[in-house]
Amino acid sequence: MATEPFRKVNNVPAQLSIDGLIDELMTLATISEAEPPVVTRVVFSAADLRARADVKGLCAEAGLTIHEDAIGNTFARWEGTAPELAPVGTGSHIDAIPNAGLYDGCVGVLGGLEAIRVLQRLGFRPRRSIELVIFTAEEPTRFGIGCLGSRMMGGVLSPTDALKLRDKEGRGLEELRLQAGFMGSLESVALPQGRFHQFVELHIEQGPTLEAEGIDVGLVTHIAAPASLRVVVEGEGGHAGAKLMPGRKDALAAAAELILALEATAKGTGTIDTVATVGICEVFPGAVNSIPSRVRLETDIRDTDSARRDGVIDALMKACAETSQRRGISITTELVNADPPAICDAAILDALEESAKAAGKSYKRMVSRAYHDSLFMARIAPAAMLFIPCRGGVSHRPDEYASPEWIGAGVHVLARTLAHLAS
Ligand code: GLV
Ligand code: MN
Ligand code: MN
Repeated sequence: MATEPFRKVNNVPAQLSIDGLIDELMTLATISEAEPPVVTRVVFSAADLRARADVKGLCAEAGLTIHEDAIGNTFARWEGTAPELAPVGTGSHIDAIPNAGLYDGCVGVLGGLEAIRVLQRLGFRPRRSIELVIFTAEEPTRFGIGCLGSRMMGGVLSPTDALKLRDKEGRGLEELRLQAGFMGSLESVALPQGRFHQFVELHIEQGPTLEAEGIDVGLVTHIAAPASLRVVVEGEGGHAGAKLMPGRKDALAAAAELILALEATAKGTGTIDTVATVGICEVFPGAVNSIPSRVRLETDIRDTDSARRDGVIDALMKACAETSQRRGISITTELVNADPPAICDAAILDALEESAKAAGKSYKRMVSRAYHDSLFMARIAPAAMLFIPCRGGVSHRPDEYASPEWIGAGVHVLARTLAHLAS
């Protein structure tokens, strides 16, 4: 850290002025499919494409060279003095679930860009190039699977399986990515080990710990293991008034049992580290006077321990079999994903810790219960994450909030870390 170019980094002001970054975050938030302040930005929607254009414009203004892959992952590169060396990566996502806020993902993208600009303003020049990555579809909204871009980049989702993905209107990934202007072979999306030297992602915590404990930044040591099981219940429809209760095969009543069984199983593992949610319950035909004939549940099951998480999936599948038999209806399940947890890289964590100390920011090591693109970047490069607080731990809601001070501290620590990793 004591090399001559690195000394410039010691001139980062303790309290960064990040008014420009906050303005950029606010502007990005207005590019939404929903009425502001609600942010909804589903991958390959008009809003997603406009948001990408906005961020790419800012990257170009900062003198970064932009490249996009066949699924729309975007790489904005600040060339180092040794461009032949593998770059250091940072970044996150700008897609947003329905009814979201403006900080999830965007703080890591625009904050990553700001960290680069902080270093540029100091006259620092990295030895390794620094690449800001904007990942396609970290959120599972459109295709039902999280981290689409980084999952493919990490070689975890094959092009063949990716081509089977459809949105709820039945439109395929291929049609939608080409329409969005992302050409080329999907085979080229997976990156080899060594393409990135190291990767570090800035993100809001999405939980309450840092704010409650008054800590500036979290250094993420592990990312919990996420999974999703799709459940389709097929009963028998009919007239809600004329068909009597005996002999009914109500798909939604059966699904309700499954939702409660999942909740009870997650609560019953004896640890708060197990979480399970049914976030989608699609009822067909969805008429008040018609008995539901089909229900699709999309479940989200996570744990810091993947074996315990798998135990919850097994219990849900048993509940499906039992309910199906007792009620005489068909219940099918499909495992959408069941990813192992990621362990963050010790050397990057040390660099983050040293940077937090140098920046005068308090820190603690912690687990990420949310998933992030770093879960898949960790497959191809040493990776770690840097968390900042968010108010009340609230996320995936329009009232998500991170203060300029919190964001400034994160950008400061990230800038120092990037400088260190790229030196
Ligand atoms: C990411 O958005 C997650 O659901 O953890
Ligand atoms: Mn999210
Ligand atoms: Mn996110």
